[in-house]
Amino acid sequence: MSPEVYKLVHVAGILMVFMSLGGLALHAINGGTKDSNGGRRLTTMTYGIGLFLILLGGFGWLGAAGMMSAGMPGWTWAKLGIWMAVGALLALPTVKPELSRLVWIVAPLLGVLGAWIARAKPF
Ligand code: HEM
Repeated sequence: MSPEVYKLVHVAGILMVFMSLGGLALHAINGGTKDSNGGRRLTTMTYGIGLFLILLGGFGWLGAAGMMSAGMPGWTWAKLGIWMAVGALLALPTVKPELSRLVWIVAPLLGVLGAWIARAKPF
């Protein structure tokens, strides 16, 4: 598959993850709980599939664009760290609803950092 296809897969995953995170955070900000969230299954499934697509698209892109020839580039480790942090944010609105507003601010910042790292490849 061409890098362009993997790019679309990567971006689709990013959209799914951040959309779900926003939904979960807003639900918690509005005083909602795990039990009162009628869309919980939908959001957690979208989140999980999105996280998987980010990895599939990211590593597929690296491979298809020939960027893995000398092993994993340094900047991809940082992106993996961001991926894990974004994945961990899933539980926060449910476990610590008082931090949901923080999640609302931190999530897009992590997204921008991920985009910047991919463009600038600083290490
Ligand atoms: C939540 C985590 C992540 C976010 C938000 C994210 C975001 C992005 C965005 C927005 C771009 C497009 C940059 C541009 O072309 O302007 C991009 C590119 C890319 N990302 Fe990610 N990414 C994440 C995780 C990962 C992971 C885990 C990998 C795996 C290695 C990865 C590999 C790549 C690659 C290879 C590119 C293309 C770089 C290039 O054009 O040379 N990303 N990412």
